[in-house]
Amino acid sequence: MRYAYAPYSRFQVGACLLAEDGTTYTGCNMENASYGATICAERVAFGKAISEGRHSFQAIAIVCSEDRKAYPCGICLQVISEFMKPESIVILEDTSGMIQYQVKDLIPNAFHLGDTDA
Ligand code: THU
Repeated sequence: MRYAYAPYSRFQVGACLLAEDGTTYTGCNMENASYGATICAERVAFGKAISEGRHSFQAIAIVCSEDRKAYPCGICLQVISEFMKPESIVILEDTSGMIQYQVKDLIPNAFHLGDTDA
């Protein structure tokens, strides 16, 4: 979170992804003057992990520095559902505490490979 590049929103987010083999991968949000080029902390962590050969994960923690939990956006939920099981854990932490979900609580009807004929 302390490395977040968030000069536009000032909303700093950190993520820590726990791979099945116990390795952890961190990420922070990285914003851009062209706002749509912003990448959330979760997807930065996934990118680091995937690029090092990890494809399955036990849990992800997402933390923000304010009294407001950083619920994953729709794009991040789709990425989470690609690489994590419905029962896997999503932990959200802010200045007032932590709350724990399962992936299926946050994205109950995920679109998966095999849902199309492609
Ligand atoms: N953000 C994340 O990095 N993760 C979340 O779960 C929610 C939002 C970032 C994106 C952007 O840099 C800032 O928070 C404000 O939306």
